[in-house]
Amino acid sequence: MGLKTNITEMFGIKYPILAAPMGPFYTTDLTIAVSEAGGLGVLSHTNLFGKSSLTEMKKNMEYVVEHTDKPFGFNIRTSRMQMDAPGLCRAIPRFINNNPKIKEQCRYIITSAGTPKMIYNKAFQKLRDGGSEIKHFHVAPALWLADKCVTAGCDGVVVTGWEGGGHQSYERVSSLVLLQQVKLKHPDLPLIACGGIATGEGMAAALSLGAGGIAMGSRFIASKESEFHENYKNIVPAAGANDTMWVTGVLGPIRLWRNKYSLDHGVVTSKEEKMALEAQLTPQKALEDQKHYEMTYEGNVDDGAVLLGQSIGVIKSIESVKDIMDNIVATAEKSLIKASKMVI
Ligand SMILES: Cc1cc2nc3c(=O)[nH]c(=O)nc-3n(C[C@H](O)[C@H](O)[C@H](O)COP(=O)(O)O)c2cc1C
Repeated sequence: MGLKTNITEMFGIKYPILAAPMGPFYTTDLTIAVSEAGGLGVLSHTNLFGKSSLTEMKKNMEYVVEHTDKPFGFNIRTSRMQMDAPGLCRAIPRFINNNPKIKEQCRYIITSAGTPKMIYNKAFQKLRDGGSEIKHFHVAPALWLADKCVTAGCDGVVVTGWEGGGHQSYERVSSLVLLQQVKLKHPDLPLIACGGIATGEGMAAALSLGAGGIAMGSRFIASKESEFHENYKNIVPAAGANDTMWVTGVLGPIRLWRNKYSLDHGVVTSKEEKMALEAQLTPQKALEDQKHYEMTYEGNVDDGAVLLGQSIGVIKSIESVKDIMDNIVATAEKSLIKASKMVI
């Protein structure tokens, strides 16, 4: 048995499973593990402890191609609040273009949290004209954003519903509904389903709804290879689906595990309210908020910002990435076969 979809074909991968980007944390070992296991690993936009995201991204890419010959991807968060994003959008395509092994293996850029258009600059055009097979997807947490991606010329979208961990939209539409909305409006657009998926049954549902692949964040946090602190990983198997909440992050709404930080944090419910808040945001305040991610990275999961999705309610173990992926695919195949038997 096996699964062949537009996404496995597009990226030359065995399984239609991608790692969701999880900045500002490191996902370099996770990228290698997911790509080695047959999926597409994805490097995150990382800038912890005042480090340069550009230097970190270059280092991470070099490390990945030293440890796997398989395809991989990377994320740039193009939010207006992400000051390093325009520079990354120019410098990273140039860097890839000048590194033949990275150029061969780096097949996917996922932009998110801002405009999909930021990546369409001369450097990216040159990379594509120079023979790179890189595809550009953007995260669409709402239908209007999927529309924007189509207008911008993206190769596909990552449809991410409200149940997902981390980056969210103000619309609060579930992955189930959003997938149907996007599929109805853009039937031929390549789709990756994301947010709330952590089992083979979930994967089968996403593929039945028209996605060519799935991306998972929380499921991969609870893996042996992920670089997340043990305290962070250990939250997942013990947690329930309603142990997360929706709060306001620096880049927009985010889903966090319920703890001291998230309960103190509050929520704005519209982009207008958020922009009013941004007008008052001082560099010191932004830095203070960033510190809560650094605390989490170091294992302080009471005071830190712990990004997790509702899918933690169905994740019951910390396993190797290979076991997670093999099990999810085997279950998805069985579920799809079982479902097809309902057709008479
Ligand atoms: C710890 C963490 C960090 C995240 N950081 C990012 C990020 O930097 N960029 C981004 O586009 N999405 C980010 N997200 C969202 C994920 O890419 C993805 O949409 C989400 O994990 C999907 O939901 P799931 O956790 O149920 O799989 C993050 C999610 C988590 C859990």
